[in-house]
Amino acid sequence: MTVNELRSKYIEFFKSKGHVEISGKSLIPNNDPTVLFTTAGMQPLVPYLLGEPHPSGTRLTDYQKCVRTGDIDSVGDPAHLTFFEMLGNWSLGAYFKQESIAYSYEFLTDPKYLGIPSEKLSVTVFEGENANGTEIPRDDEAASRWEEMGIPRERIYFMPREDNWWGPAGQTGPCGPDTEIFYDTGKPKCGPDCKPGCHCGKFVEIWNNVFMQYNKDAEGHYTPLARKCVDTGMGAERTVAMLNGQATVYDTDVFVPIINKIEELSGKKYGTDEKTDRSFRVIADHVRTATFILGDPQAVTPSNVGAGYILRRIIRRAVRDGRKLGLDGTFLTAPAAVVIEEYKNAYPELEEHKDFIFKEIENEEKKFLNTLKKGEAEFEKLLPNLQKNPQKIIPGRVAFRLYDTFGFPIELTQEMAEENGMKVDVEGFKEAEKKHQELSRDTSGQQFKGGLIDHSEITTKYHTATHLLQQALVNVLGPQVAQKGSNITSERMRFDFSFERAMTKEEIKKVEDIVNEQIAKDLPVTMEVMDLEAAKKSGARALFGEKYDKQVSVYTIGDFSKEVCGGPHVQHTGLIGHFHIVKEQSSSAGVRRIRAVID
Ligand code: ALA
Repeated sequence: MTVNELRSKYIEFFKSKGHVEISGKSLIPNNDPTVLFTTAGMQPLVPYLLGEPHPSGTRLTDYQKCVRTGDIDSVGDPAHLTFFEMLGNWSLGAYFKQESIAYSYEFLTDPKYLGIPSEKLSVTVFEGENANGTEIPRDDEAASRWEEMGIPRERIYFMPREDNWWGPAGQTGPCGPDTEIFYDTGKPKCGPDCKPGCHCGKFVEIWNNVFMQYNKDAEGHYTPLARKCVDTGMGAERTVAMLNGQATVYDTDVFVPIINKIEELSGKKYGTDEKTDRSFRVIADHVRTATFILGDPQAVTPSNVGAGYILRRIIRRAVRDGRKLGLDGTFLTAPAAVVIEEYKNAYPELEEHKDFIFKEIENEEKKFLNTLKKGEAEFEKLLPNLQKNPQKIIPGRVAFRLYDTFGFPIELTQEMAEENGMKVDVEGFKEAEKKHQELSRDTSGQQFKGGLIDHSEITTKYHTATHLLQQALVNVLGPQVAQKGSNITSERMRFDFSFERAMTKEEIKKVEDIVNEQIAKDLPVTMEVMDLEAAKKSGARALFGEKYDKQVSVYTIGDFSKEVCGGPHVQHTGLIGHFHIVKEQSSSAGVRRIRAVID
């Protein structure tokens, strides 16, 4: 089975069960503060899981590109990936545990779909707990449903929160107990306690069905959701590897051609020794992720902050591992081309942004190679002095300075030290790094404070203010203004838009005044579900390049603004308060950035 086949089968199955296929969304979350990337299929659906009506109905299915960076340093081993695809189906109040479990069981075991023998499956369910004052019972219902499907009690495991609770994706939002489905690879148990959830490789998790029953608020309280929902997620790469009996995700059809390309370029073979294999896997994973980030309609470019920094890090790490394979110059666009070729049917945006992807990857490779050259020169300069040290040890702070100022990775300092008969004080390096991190923690920590998709009153006001701002910008600057990105926290909004030059003071003031006038008029905000085409014809603004579903929600603010948007919004503009632009600056070539606050 290939990933393409699995994706099609999954969608086809859920369509046959009355689900509407919606399109996966951007990898860079829109209007979500605090997360850098979309990490799960449910993330773009949070407003709907919380109660907004979805334009496509109450039974939905899709495939979603996801990036998780929590384990980024483990990439290189056979199991970890940064980019992956999540196949999902949702019930927005339409069905709950019984149907959800029955659908999963049928898809997994029916020979028309995955045809997995039932005896290979085991499941875990939530054992219950008192969650911050809310009594959440043991999930006997889910267990009974599994039994009805034919999974015997001894393969149904009751487990605690760490295993069988999902969400919220950030600090607030929808969450609930889940049931996870595991495939038994047939390996012997690693010990008497070996069971699903054990990482020895006997049991592989293939699907997670979350029963979204609660909303967790900022104080940590769980309140039952008015409408119970189902959110499921299946990792495509892992499931394909499992179905094919392949040892790792890197053996699946999506990775083989990428790895082949790296073999061809480097003249080295994958599968020879673990050290070389690690470099192959790092390059293959990172180039795939970089291609998807750059190919996204909301692409970020390599930079020193946020998602741009992750992109920079993965490209640079791929370059470094390329050097380990003897690839000294730029080489990543060739495997990136393979990624585009493989995925262009499921993700046409990659082909569309091909030139941009190549250009950005190559630029970043060149920049890093240049950095390496400078670092090497600096090292040569320092060398005579360093060699005076009788112990032949390079102090940690020197290694850290090379890293911090020249972007020179410690491994390279170590390699060069060795070439010169010296060693690096790695402990000292770590200490210097820790000190540095403590200093910068305060700033970077901010980003994760507010919870994932914050739908508090204040962020709702900001959402509506964003619409007013966009229309005001068009009125003042002209029709070339188009939204390029937006990010809202409870403290401020940030809005990126296409425009060639800095705004004048007068223009900024005018835009501010227009927004405040619309607030003073207390215009009604209304929502209507329409066909995407009809919405566009009606003059509703939509994000250029974003993939929308056939049916979309259109928010209209009086006679002032009309936009395709997932919400949420205030009911009338008078609720927003006073709008104030704090800063207008360049974001990237041809893109300006406004920061604004409401007080
Ligand atoms: N949201 C659930 C997950 O990511 C399905 O596992």
